[in-house]
Amino acid sequence: MNDITSPKQVVAEPLSYLKLRHLAAYLQKTREEERARIAREIHDELGQLLATVQMGMSMMAEEYRDHQKLSAKISDFDQLLREAVKTVQRISADLRPQMLDTLGLGDALEWHAQEFQKRTGIDCTLTLLLQREHFNPEVATAIFRIFQETLTNVIRHAEATRVLTTLQEKRNHLILVVRDNGRGITPGQSRGSHALGIMGMRERAYMLGGRLKIFAAPEQGTIVITRIPVTPKEKGKLPHGKNTHC
Ligand SMILES: Nc1ncnc2c1ncn2[C@@H]1O[C@H](COP(=O)(O)OP(=O)(O)O)[C@@H](O)[C@H]1O
Ligand SMILES: [Mg+2]
Repeated sequence: MNDITSPKQVVAEPLSYLKLRHLAAYLQKTREEERARIAREIHDELGQLLATVQMGMSMMAEEYRDHQKLSAKISDFDQLLREAVKTVQRISADLRPQMLDTLGLGDALEWHAQEFQKRTGIDCTLTLLLQREHFNPEVATAIFRIFQETLTNVIRHAEATRVLTTLQEKRNHLILVVRDNGRGITPGQSRGSHALGIMGMRERAYMLGGRLKIFAAPEQGTIVITRIPVTPKEKGKLPHGKNTHC
């Protein structure tokens, strides 16, 4: 039946849809791990180094405080160093906010919403209705990245003046809603083959058994709703709600 003498035909097998999804998930995971490692290194090593230089600077400032010209120069360098420390903190937090791992998802979203408002001047409200601080790290990362990408889209495309966001834990699901009051989105824009950012967000939610829906709000603007299942919380903990105007 099997003619082993005939030459074998080698056909490059195209990647199946499922394999592509696995590949996307794998790449996403390794990218996230790599970012966390780089963020740690920048924060710890470069941060440490700058702190040491800052200490040396203060000692010099003390030693040369009677030398007018020199102490003015030292003060200039000290200012530059302060900016360098801030930049290091910002870059490392942008790569991966450590508070996602330490303080939890709600605080990390709050921090990002505040940064967003400071940077853009767009009014941003975040309401947290969570029953705990910590979730499975993959779920927390997915929600955080979707939040980041959605707010980036608001800056780039919405022409909005206001964003209302909510993160709620309900019936073993985390539900993230981001609503802006901008010009709105069309189905063509959200489903088009160029919508790689939205595709990436959908994929993140899908990989964790969740869904992401995006549509134009009835009156004005765009709504992005993400639902991701979470394991039930331990019994005995009371829910806590929080409303922050960032
Ligand atoms: N909040 C929004 N308001 C209006 N249009 C939006 C919004 N978010 C996304 N869009 C539209 O959807 C398109 C696809 O978004 P996305 O996949 O993130 O790609 P990109 O941001 O790289 O253009 C955008 O080019 C834009 O036309
Ligand atoms: Mg985008």
